[in-house]
Amino acid sequence: MAKKEMSTHQTNISAQPRIHQSAREIQAYGTVSHALPLTLDEPVRLEMTEQLNLLLADTMTLRDLYKKSHWQVAGSTFYQLHLLFDKHYGEQVEIVDEIAERIQLLGGISIAMAADVAETTRIPRPPRGREEPPVQISRLLDAHEVIIRHCRELAERSSRLGDAGTNDLVVSDVLRPNELQVWFLSEHLVDVPLVHAVEPNVRRAG
Ligand SMILES: [Fe+2]
Repeated sequence: MAKKEMSTHQTNISAQPRIHQSAREIQAYGTVSHALPLTLDEPVRLEMTEQLNLLLADTMTLRDLYKKSHWQVAGSTFYQLHLLFDKHYGEQVEIVDEIAERIQLLGGISIAMAADVAETTRIPRPPRGREEPPVQISRLLDAHEVIIRHCRELAERSSRLGDAGTNDLVVSDVLRPNELQVWFLSEHLVDVPLVHAVEPNVRRAG
């Protein structure tokens, strides 16, 4: 028998890649691996992975909103905003990876594809066309606010459930960088003179 198996195996040897393969999923979305040596109960990991997937979908949307803004920005502040938007994009890329891998290590499944993200995110869909910088920045700030609000809720909930790792990730790697990006964006919406200061005794006509 062993001899026959060996000869069959030898005749099947081929340099042809076995393409177009398919099989059933090995784990369904929305579930967590049953037993992991993390000393975190399955219900806790289920709740945390569900919440982190919401945070992930919103972060992926904000990431893409930054690239859209980077490409489509117009006007006299083009160069500065073009660079700033891409810097924030790069930082959001890293945040996306950290959230996604936390979901996987908790035994869950990270949301990944654009269509699934679009169905899940709480951030409103922007138009395909171009918008002026103040509108772009306002839209980005609104998206940050959705994420920051969720971070505060999730930080408290994860702490209460004893998931210190998720708490640390949410506060250190998501909340704080988002707060910093909000500062850099919002300063662009302060209406101050560029060249001539407004003298104290001059009233604006109005
Ligand atoms: Fe670019």
